[in-house]
Amino acid sequence: MNNEKSSIVSGFYKLPVEKRVEFVKNFSNLTNDEAKLFSSSIDIEITDRMIENVLGQFELPLGIAVNFLINGKDYLVPMAIEETSVVAAASNAAKIARIQGGFKTESSKPLMIGQIQLLHLEDVADSAQKIMNHKKELLKIANAQDKILTELGGGAEDLEVRIIDSPLGKMIVIHIIVNVLDAMGANAVNTMCEALAPMIEELTGGKVRLKIISNLADKRIVKAKAVFDKEKMGGEKNVDAFIESYTLASVDPYRAATHNKGIMNGIDALIIATGNDFRAIEAGAHSYAAKDGRYTSLSKYYKDKNGNLVGELEIPMAVGIIGGAANIHPKAKLCRKILGIKTAKELAEVVASLGLAQNFAAVFALSTVGIQKGHMSLHAKNIAVMAGAQADQIDKVADQMVKEGKIKLDRAKEILAK
Ligand code: MEV
Repeated sequence: MNNEKSSIVSGFYKLPVEKRVEFVKNFSNLTNDEAKLFSSSIDIEITDRMIENVLGQFELPLGIAVNFLINGKDYLVPMAIEETSVVAAASNAAKIARIQGGFKTESSKPLMIGQIQLLHLEDVADSAQKIMNHKKELLKIANAQDKILTELGGGAEDLEVRIIDSPLGKMIVIHIIVNVLDAMGANAVNTMCEALAPMIEELTGGKVRLKIISNLADKRIVKAKAVFDKEKMGGEKNVDAFIESYTLASVDPYRAATHNKGIMNGIDALIIATGNDFRAIEAGAHSYAAKDGRYTSLSKYYKDKNGNLVGELEIPMAVGIIGGAANIHPKAKLCRKILGIKTAKELAEVVASLGLAQNFAAVFALSTVGIQKGHMSLHAKNIAVMAGAQADQIDKVADQMVKEGKIKLDRAKEILAK
């Protein structure tokens, strides 16, 4: 659909909102009605069905990151986020990544894990054996819960038994491994876990307690990689400075948390824009970052033989394009159309590329000019608006405050009064 169109736009941020909408409309073949959706609120009836006790809607800005080239295809990436500079930083990183071919990704099958906790066992090892001996029947019961999923080629594929020591003594945790295809998978997996409980209790004489998906989706992994051009980074000294900064995240959890937060700035913004569950993605990301026993960076960076910076991100990505809010929320559907994605796998790969772009942009800024410079000009605009500036007064007041290095409400009011 948008394979032939380029997502490179320079000065996109300088265009008025209508022109940006026009560009996205043309790029993604949106209808007039779809283009109008950007500036309208979603129907209260829709939100009232989504959660309980609804009063209205809570809006976030929806922006577009430009310049993304992923596996040879151009993407405009919608981002719903309240933080200044994030969208601009992602677009800029994507522009640098393009020089050496853009982002390359790979991903595993969409396998989610369901957990069934089993306690009060007389003989834990014997119970584990009994469960394994009945694996086939158990998988059959699991797959009987979701005929559509199995007809489409998904369903429960495997079952693993773990014996875990706990303060309550040994317990068993059964993992069912489910190919959830294009769904996030929580509903399908939870239903299967609940359906298996009676047979597991019958087989072992134990008591099943928890029956729920695991958000540590470590069998549903996506990897994104990009080469960031050393010349565009201002020379090899900046590549070295970058690697020095990154190294702290690789060894220190205090820095790794902030480093990974930078990754999630991009990831969450796209996850929200596509109506996916950002809490599940956050939980998966941070637990995966601690998978080797110490919390560390989700990305890694090194220099290639030409002195360019290579970045890699590896992260669990439980995203869906069917089910849940992804299919109900009109703007989530619109954002999927803007992306032009056809599968959850493709969405996961765009998400990971955006996470890597965001991470690169943050660490690059931190290891060179610092991030406050970029933040400050947008912050200054917000302060100018708060002081009452309108239309072209906003940029004038903001520019003056940035020049003076004094971004304060009282100063904005003074400049405005003049
Ligand atoms: C701010 O939202 C994100 C950063 O702190 C990320 C980082 O430090 O790498 C800039």
